[in-house]
Amino acid sequence: MKPLLADDAALDLAADLLRRGRLVAFPTETVYGLGADASNAEAVGRIFAAKGRPADHPLIVHITDASCLTDWAETVPETAWLLACHFWPGPLAMILKKKPQVPDAVTGGQPTVGLRVPNHPVALSLLRKFGGGIAAPSANRFCRISPTTARHVEEELGDSVDLILDGGPCEVGVESTIIDLSGARPRQLRPGRITRQQIEALIGVPLAVAAKSDEALDIRAPGLLAVHYAPSTMALLCRADELSATLAELNAQGRRVGLIAYHRPILPLHLEHILHMPEAAHDYAQALYAALREMDNLRFDLIVVEQPPEGDAWQAVNDRLRKATVPASTVFG
Ligand code: TXA
Ligand code: MG
Repeated sequence: MKPLLADDAALDLAADLLRRGRLVAFPTETVYGLGADASNAEAVGRIFAAKGRPADHPLIVHITDASCLTDWAETVPETAWLLACHFWPGPLAMILKKKPQVPDAVTGGQPTVGLRVPNHPVALSLLRKFGGGIAAPSANRFCRISPTTARHVEEELGDSVDLILDGGPCEVGVESTIIDLSGARPRQLRPGRITRQQIEALIGVPLAVAAKSDEALDIRAPGLLAVHYAPSTMALLCRADELSATLAELNAQGRRVGLIAYHRPILPLHLEHILHMPEAAHDYAQALYAALREMDNLRFDLIVVEQPPEGDAWQAVNDRLRKATVPASTVFG
């Protein structure tokens, strides 16, 4: 399936395919999504088949604007309206108690539903033309790196999708921040471009963090699994001050290594390939999945990733890097 430039005719075709229960991959500002009519359980079933994703993993429903919240959510707390007002359209998904008619196929049988208004002209036009909610996980195979270009979607899903809309590279590059508002206290399930501090400043209460050790949560939000966004090549996360020693050691072992370096120039140590990442957090996030994918496709023995800085703006990047890699210290003791 070759991607189609997302012009008006392509968008009409895409909306029509969705109405007929087919799958359409489309760009959002975060990553590309694999969309189906969220009110059609059979169509949603096709998403799981195409991704190879277990059926109990819930999907985010994409909606046109905040006024659609009440079509899907049974109750919409004040905090949800506040967050929607501030951050939609944008890279924030909210988990709310669902309306009875939301198909179990969408929610994985949970009493809650994930909702988001994406901030991308193609996604918004598609939602308007279609006129309903679009259930869409990231358009990658289960446990693989999320796609940030139409070409990545083609690589991942091939012919198991009915149409791929090309809207250029995604601007944010990592998946949305997820906030669970269905319980007693707001809880962050996944970090993203919108930081915990931004959300806490707006809602005026601290967010609980979903514990990694909570198995029930792992099932609800696979984004919390320790390894979730992994390339197939083993990837090591290496502190900047240990980078030279690690590369020298790997070199001595005769391993073919690809390096994803932070912005500083690195002394070349018989490296097959170096990618220099951007210095600013948002630019780094945007480039991250394409970099991991490029390195993965080159089939080195190992990918080494130089640890970028910590700090608020780096939360999403560091979360995804931790999930895509193992610490270099676990390999070298
Ligand atoms: O940025 C994004 O959110 C992208 C684009 C396409 O919108 N979508 C995305 O979808 O990342 P996905 O399926 O790859 O990740 C959605 C996450 C999953 O970890 C899922 O378990 C969680 O949202 N989720 C969805 N509904 C949920 C619910 N009712 N309760 C708890 N977690 C939920
Ligand atoms: Mg995903």
